[in-house]
Amino acid sequence: MRVDIGNALDEVASPGVPRDALERLDERVADAHERIARGRADDEFGYAALNLPETADPDAVRAAVEPFDDVETVLTVGIGGSALGAATLSSALADADAPDAYYLDNVDPDHVRTLLDGLDLSRTVVDVVSRSGTTAETLANFLVVREAMAEEGVDWTERTLVTTGESGNLRDLAEKHDLPSVRVPEGVPGRFSVLSTVGLAPAALQGIDIDALLAGAAEAADGLSGSLFETPAYAYGATAYALDIRGAGVNAMMPYAEGLETFAEWFAQLWAESLGKDGLGQTPVRALGATDQHSQLQLYRAGPRDKLVTFVDVDDRPDVPIPETDLEGLDYLADTDLGELLDAEFRATEASLAESGRPSVRVELDALDAHSLGGLLYGMEAACVLAGELYEVETFTQPAVEWGKEAARDILRGERDRSEKATLRVE
Ligand code: PA5
Repeated sequence: MRVDIGNALDEVASPGVPRDALERLDERVADAHERIARGRADDEFGYAALNLPETADPDAVRAAVEPFDDVETVLTVGIGGSALGAATLSSALADADAPDAYYLDNVDPDHVRTLLDGLDLSRTVVDVVSRSGTTAETLANFLVVREAMAEEGVDWTERTLVTTGESGNLRDLAEKHDLPSVRVPEGVPGRFSVLSTVGLAPAALQGIDIDALLAGAAEAADGLSGSLFETPAYAYGATAYALDIRGAGVNAMMPYAEGLETFAEWFAQLWAESLGKDGLGQTPVRALGATDQHSQLQLYRAGPRDKLVTFVDVDDRPDVPIPETDLEGLDYLADTDLGELLDAEFRATEASLAESGRPSVRVELDALDAHSLGGLLYGMEAACVLAGELYEVETFTQPAVEWGKEAARDILRGERDRSEKATLRVE
């Protein structure tokens, strides 16, 4: 990926970052890079995720999914980091003739029932994913799916792949029923797991080129250096941090590619759960170009000056010419195609923000393919780890998430009231 931070400078935008502030920040980036390199060398928890381009084993992943060669549908049962990476890869890269992919993350009974009623479970492979192996939503959804399979006479043990860590309820289940399984590697937090078995197994089931994905990520890993002026990922992480501390507390991720809509969700989790600590962190918002020009852009251009807009632009797009028309006033569409129109929409939006002095950063990809996406995902993870070092927060923990998981279990056991604090009810 390439990054252009020109429109985030104070020469263009307010809030904006002065060039000399970036130069001073670069000294901290150098220190942070050393810390990251040390963490990677020692395979420390979290930092180990940045080694996945080298440590992931695509052959083992392909071997694990090989028995499911008659699959029509891949159903991933997992939540948060155990679903969003797989969904990102699928929506960006799966071919039209690939098996369909569905996700059960939420435990909304309406949604679960409707989804299961519409699936042919005899042609579905269920990838149940939980790093901890103990997440209530995932285990409950899996039990529902398992029962639905049994009710349809499908041998669920033949149609289930378990993706989990060394221990936990899910590991016990895999061992008890001798289910095919792949390990979530040690040291890789959920939201950093897209390039591990968590993302690669469902991607392989959909025929996605996981070698190219890892190669793109490896290229981004090789490009990490101790300066934000040489490393696109660090330029992004450092600029987002520098803008946040100058008042841009919201980061709107706005890819100009429908296939990257889920990437914006993945990014939102990465940014929120990793950096939202100790009263710090930038609030990620998901948007999609050009669609959200027609819903959110008004606020971004004329609302509070508290936002960074991050664009992701794709150079090489499929050719879909816009047919000629003799309708009056549409001459500007002559000899053009949808990709050119989308690009014009992007440039207009970028210019519109710059013209009103609102900061934006442009992330550029050569194409929406496995190699570029690998670079983008790795680059955003590295940007996030760098930002965590600059904020001085514990990037790889999620105490608020764990608190919620524990509280939900306590409520179900009757050991905690729903509302311990004040109520002010209006009916
Ligand atoms: O990033 C994280 O750690 C979380 O979002 C987890 O991925 C999420 O809570 C699911 O956890 P698990 O994979 O243990 O089921």
